[in-house]
Amino acid sequence: MPGLDPIRLKPLLGPLAGRFDVDVLAECDSTNSEIQRRAEAGAPAGTVVVAERQTAGRGRRGRTWLAEPGDGLTFSLLWRFGGPPAWLSGLSLAVGVGVARALEDCGAAGVALKWPNDVLLRRGEGFAKLAGILVELVVDRRGIQAVIGIGLNLRPPAGDLPQPAAGLVEALPALPDRHGLLAALLAAQAEVLDRFAGQGFAGLQADWQARHAWQDRPVEVLQEGAAGIAGRCLGADRDGSLLLATAGGMRRILAGDVSLRPA
Ligand code: ATP
Ligand code: BTN
Repeated sequence: MPGLDPIRLKPLLGPLAGRFDVDVLAECDSTNSEIQRRAEAGAPAGTVVVAERQTAGRGRRGRTWLAEPGDGLTFSLLWRFGGPPAWLSGLSLAVGVGVARALEDCGAAGVALKWPNDVLLRRGEGFAKLAGILVELVVDRRGIQAVIGIGLNLRPPAGDLPQPAAGLVEALPALPDRHGLLAALLAAQAEVLDRFAGQGFAGLQADWQARHAWQDRPVEVLQEGAAGIAGRCLGADRDGSLLLATAGGMRRILAGDVSLRPA
């Protein structure tokens, strides 16, 4: 599998090329960790690190992200925002809208979003996880920087996973060249992140809702050490929180260490 070449990527980014500085590594621990180190050393917004292989790729709560070299795209992007950190609670949803749009622009059908950080692919009556998003914040005296990590499966990973995994290969007649795909993903991120910076998640809420996998379906919200909350899933509110219609009334769940499952 030939590696990604930043020089081939540049013309594909067109006028956006100046907003990104893309580095491709054969291997690193986690592109999110690598970007965090670079942010602490003063890297500017728009810094992107792509890794062909991650030795410690991770999801939320330290869960492992599996990806064989060539079977996916694993990269992280550094972005800067003003305002208090709480305002960024809808950021992983906004990033999901960008990933979905980019995949749709490449011709993929059946891409859907799961609150708060998953991109799913419709498979029969259900869905399987196509991409995961891990947003982490670096707060320093210059303000808040967001480390936006995206793991996209071109082919589903081998191995046992608690939930089904999908690959982009299932959604397209042929897999696109990874350079074109990465350029589409970065271009879509520039667009949604600009919108998010101006309007917050409210400016992307309708785009998110239009792709919401479990709209009006019964779900359960699970939190370690607490009883689950069952309800009908109404999707994301203007600030990115999850709205759940429960027997006891409307509940608003903030993105945190909670898991959402179909009931
Ligand atoms: P939860 O709602 O419980 O947080 P999640 O699917 O969103 O579930 P995350 O912690 O956000 O969980 O994501 C990590 C999960 O993704 C892990 O449970 C892991 O099993 C799964 N996973 C790891 N690698 C892949 C992959 N390449 N494709 C799909 N899923 C993967
Ligand atoms: C999740 O589903 O919980 C998020 C998974 C995020 C995986 C990506 S792969 C690139 C970046 N580097 C990491 O270590 N994680 C993210």
